[in-house]
Amino acid sequence: MDASELQAIATAEDQALRPTRMYCCTSTGCRAAQSLAVKQNLEQAVMSAGLGEQVSVIGVGCMGFCGQDPLVEVAPQQVLYEKVTPDQAASILNGLQGGPVQAQAGNLRHPFFTGQLRVVREHSGRVDPDRIESYIAAEGYQALQRVLQEMTPNQVVEEIRRSGLRGRGGLAIRRASSGPPWPRCLTPKST
Ligand code: FES
Repeated sequence: MDASELQAIATAEDQALRPTRMYCCTSTGCRAAQSLAVKQNLEQAVMSAGLGEQVSVIGVGCMGFCGQDPLVEVAPQQVLYEKVTPDQAASILNGLQGGPVQAQAGNLRHPFFTGQLRVVREHSGRVDPDRIESYIAAEGYQALQRVLQEMTPNQVVEEIRRSGLRGRGGLAIRRASSGPPWPRCLTPKST
């Protein structure tokens, strides 16, 4: 798959999004707290209200604030709801239409969120883990495509060296120090 094909998938995915998005965490912690039922009820509420062209309900990976799960974020309104129960789902949609909401309001300006600079998990809470198109729309596979089709092995090693990328095994060793395993990347026949 080349860059233009990735871009075509990303564009189609973006165009399929409705103006209002309800991001419902469906990661492990939230699942244990019934988030799949929350998501299902959100979807049913949207359909019952005839708002399928206006509102997307999207299951997403962990939003990070697991102690308050299940979480539902409404965008672009930037509204967060915490500890949502399945029977509160319809009221969240009601809130979009100006009605009362029964769910507990969260705060996206909480220091837990504002104090973080997400790097690896930059798109956390936006990507649907069940749909690869969603990942591609979040620039997924672009680096892999570039590495496989545009760069030489030496260029890959040099880019990682310049990035200062560190291992996550506890020692924070720079991944592209001058020692192994990088020479092996350049000589695939070595053992
Ligand atoms: S598992 Fe839902 S916020 Fe972490």
